[in-house]
Amino acid sequence: MTTAAVLTAAGSGSRLGRDTPKGLVTVGGTPLVRWAASSLAAVCERIVVTAPVDAVGAFVDAVAGVGARVEVVAGGERRQASVARGIDALADLDGDDAVLVHDAARPFMPVAVFGRLLSALETHDAVIPVLAVVDTIVTGVGGDLRYLPRPSLGAVQTPQAFLMGALRDAHARAQAERFEATDDGALAQRYGFRLGTVEGDPRGAKITYAEDLDAAERRISG
Ligand code: C5P
Repeated sequence: MTTAAVLTAAGSGSRLGRDTPKGLVTVGGTPLVRWAASSLAAVCERIVVTAPVDAVGAFVDAVAGVGARVEVVAGGERRQASVARGIDALADLDGDDAVLVHDAARPFMPVAVFGRLLSALETHDAVIPVLAVVDTIVTGVGGDLRYLPRPSLGAVQTPQAFLMGALRDAHARAQAERFEATDDGALAQRYGFRLGTVEGDPRGAKITYAEDLDAAERRISG
């Protein structure tokens, strides 16, 4: 059985306030996409990276020699389209092969979480890492404000693990009905696949703002 990954890095990362695509921004001198690809290489034989269409060459250089067979493809307009392109690049995989879908924006997710996800995949079609929410969350901001009960809330992270057959089918069905979600677990659940959860890790937090980058830089050097 093959274990592969789709690593999304085709977003502009404009909230970071840099000119370079986020995946090429460095922490400790190493591009974020390389941090993420190197950890994935601990459990994956193949990795498909989705890059901004005008930066494919730079991403090829950034992930060269990470220790797995890596291919860089141009991403789509939105995240879900980028993941779909990654799935297409893994067309030769079998339905029961394992795929981790990960975001380069979460470069420091510990490898132990990948292991938890792949173990849980033995009894599920899809598995997501979930982290307990520490903030109190409301909906309807600016209108009908409602408090949500915190004990039942979780923040969903990546990578998320899928049987290739389930991931392909969920994406094809979402595309057919033009349904869009912010992660792939939502698609798996919508189309009736067995969705499991494992504990996430705060070190897998998304790098979104300049402050997140500064904090990561301090952690690496300290
Ligand atoms: O924008 P957001 O934080 O949801 O992006 C999550 C991940 O999806 C990032 O790693 C980003 O590079 C990726 N992405 C992509 N293609 C897009 C938009 C986002 O691969 N069109």
